[in-house]
Amino acid sequence: YYTMDDFSFDGKTVLLRVEFNSPMGPKGEILDDKRIRESLPTIKGLEDSKLVLLAHQSRPGKKDFTTMEEHARRLQKYVKQNVRYVDDIFGWNARSHIMNMEKGDVLMLENVRFYSEETLEQSPEAHSKTHLVKKLAPVAQIFLNDAFGASHRSQCSLVGFTPVLPSGAGRLMEKEIDSLNEALTGGGETIYVLGGAKVDDSISVTKNVLEKKIASKVLVTGVVANVFMAASGIRIGKPNMDFLEKNDYIGQIDLAKTILKAFDGKVVLPSDVAINKDGKREEINVMDLPTDYLISDIGQATILSFSDMIRHADKVIINGPSGIFENPEFSAGTNDILMAATRAKFSVIGGGHSSAAVEQLGIEDRISHVSTGGGACIDFLSGKNMPAIEALKAAKARIQK
Ligand code: 3PG
Repeated sequence: YYTMDDFSFDGKTVLLRVEFNSPMGPKGEILDDKRIRESLPTIKGLEDSKLVLLAHQSRPGKKDFTTMEEHARRLQKYVKQNVRYVDDIFGWNARSHIMNMEKGDVLMLENVRFYSEETLEQSPEAHSKTHLVKKLAPVAQIFLNDAFGASHRSQCSLVGFTPVLPSGAGRLMEKEIDSLNEALTGGGETIYVLGGAKVDDSISVTKNVLEKKIASKVLVTGVVANVFMAASGIRIGKPNMDFLEKNDYIGQIDLAKTILKAFDGKVVLPSDVAINKDGKREEINVMDLPTDYLISDIGQATILSFSDMIRHADKVIINGPSGIFENPEFSAGTNDILMAATRAKFSVIGGGHSSAAVEQLGIEDRISHVSTGGGACIDFLSGKNMPAIEALKAAKARIQK
């Protein structure tokens, strides 16, 4: 693929797909702006262009599915270019703003997932015929993709411009690909630790890394562990089942069952958990489940045994927190697992929440690579096809032809 070194941007209108999807609080505040900060080398490298940013925040139906206004405001704190936000993606308002831009301006467009064709998973060619691409491509000259965190998706703003505009990778995209490729060279004992609440992604990664023998073991924590516990016949209790139901994850239990059967002993479940009993942490053995309270972390015995395995691994890949780590009562699992990772020979941390926790602990320098990608990072490490990266490669091949 082409990189920023292959283009001249002077005075050109550049469409830059960034990955600004960030954890957001109840008042719409950005809780961690790592992804915005990580895109600064790219954005600063485009100071002489007219820079139009495309991005998404969360998914339809989720509480933090909101506008990009706050992201634009945050970006303005870090750059000297003039950053504007417009609450439109490709309508007249967006296009007239773009056409009136001056060199050095930055324009943040609206959350692309407000537009229904965005999340269709289809080919770059099919996406190049969508309204978004047909309206925006004519007002731009170059497309750059810096959204590594979403590069496992074949969605419109990630792949749709590559068949019609000269296209390349931004600085962050380049750095992620180089570092993660390095993670894939060499062998040894590789352990995956999968937690957090994106259960569907984690289940498919578990299957993939066990099938391809990339991981020798997958340790599960967070909501992912709840699904595997339910799959192994453990009754996790009504509030925890209700949570799975509310998030449409009940179907994942059957998938988890198939994995447990096919890869005997490879998926390691917690032996104890911490429940939230009226705001207080209480630890219970998994044998003593079900519980009437929300499981909110892994327990001490699990922390010790998981940490021990991680410390002795050649490579550890951690994605997703072990519990509700934002609450200090339930942060022990997430923090101790990350501390253990600093002792492994090679460590990769993925996922917005896990990398936020790495920052809180101040251990970034002791981790080999902190990825801005969640699902994208582990899909990459699992050798899965990355549609947005493939699209960039195809764009270069098209131009060379
Ligand atoms: C992420 O946070 O992993 C990316 O922004 C992709 O989000 P998605 O899983 O909702 O597509």
